[in-house]
Amino acid sequence: MTERLANSTVLVVGGAQRLGAAIAAAAHAEGAHVTASSHAPRDETMLRIDLLDEASVAAAAEQVGPIDHVISTASMTYSAPIGDMELTRVQEAIAAKLTGPLLLAKHFQIRKSLTLFSGQVAWRPGSGTYTTGITNGAVAFAAQHLAAELAPVRVNAISPGIIDSGLWDGRGAEKAEFLSAAASRTLVRRTGTVGDIVDAVLWLLSAPFVTGETLRVDGGRG
Ligand SMILES: NC(=O)c1ccc[n+]([C@@H]2O[C@H](COP(=O)([O-])OP(=O)(O)OC[C@H]3O[C@@H](n4cnc5c(N)ncnc54)[C@H](OP(=O)(O)O)[C@@H]3O)[C@@H](O)[C@H]2O)c1
Repeated sequence: MTERLANSTVLVVGGAQRLGAAIAAAAHAEGAHVTASSHAPRDETMLRIDLLDEASVAAAAEQVGPIDHVISTASMTYSAPIGDMELTRVQEAIAAKLTGPLLLAKHFQIRKSLTLFSGQVAWRPGSGTYTTGITNGAVAFAAQHLAAELAPVRVNAISPGIIDSGLWDGRGAEKAEFLSAAASRTLVRRTGTVGDIVDAVLWLLSAPFVTGETLRVDGGRG
């Protein structure tokens, strides 16, 4: 079978864990030379990119050189009632998902595509989730505007629904109930898998006529 990303170079920001790690592994399996980064690498072999720190982005871009595909899964999610809002946490959430990718676009010599991560909360307002919702919504606009800015480099976003990536493990005993409730709200009656998102990313990387798009991978939650 042909490897879809043979001879390509791929950088996965946030590639040390969860969805990012799975995307990195899948891109490698498709023949790409993959670099994964973390904002707090556990060993010296991993690239450090902290999207709150422009110098770290510039240094990584210098080290990596020209690259075909950049994918940013970075997120610093923050939820709180508006009366308890901590401005710094809001600014960090915006930096990880929105201004951080702008820094990636500024410093990296991207040859083929940049893929951002939005999320379903953008289109489903709820109590306490305004930071995530506004940030994810802005990511969809960022994909459109960066697609124009970086053309002919393609820029797209993935908007996941609830995915059992490990992100929800902190809920402990409540996790199963949370996932079950999320599944019941989808049209396909299940939560998303890591594989659902990996498939969507791999398709976007190899879809040369798709740019400025936000692809919802959320089971059609209505
Ligand atoms: N899983 C879901 O149900 C779901 C739903 C909707 C949207 N999403 C979106 O999908 C993406 C991946 O989510 P996930 O489930 O894999 O879990 P996640 O914990 O949200 O992943 C966030 C990633 O961001 C990285 N990160 C954190 N701070 C950073 C910083 N300052 N600079 C650069 N990277 C930073 C983390 O890695 P390091 O700590 O190693 O840097 C981690 O890999 C996120 O954008 C998330 O919002 C996920």
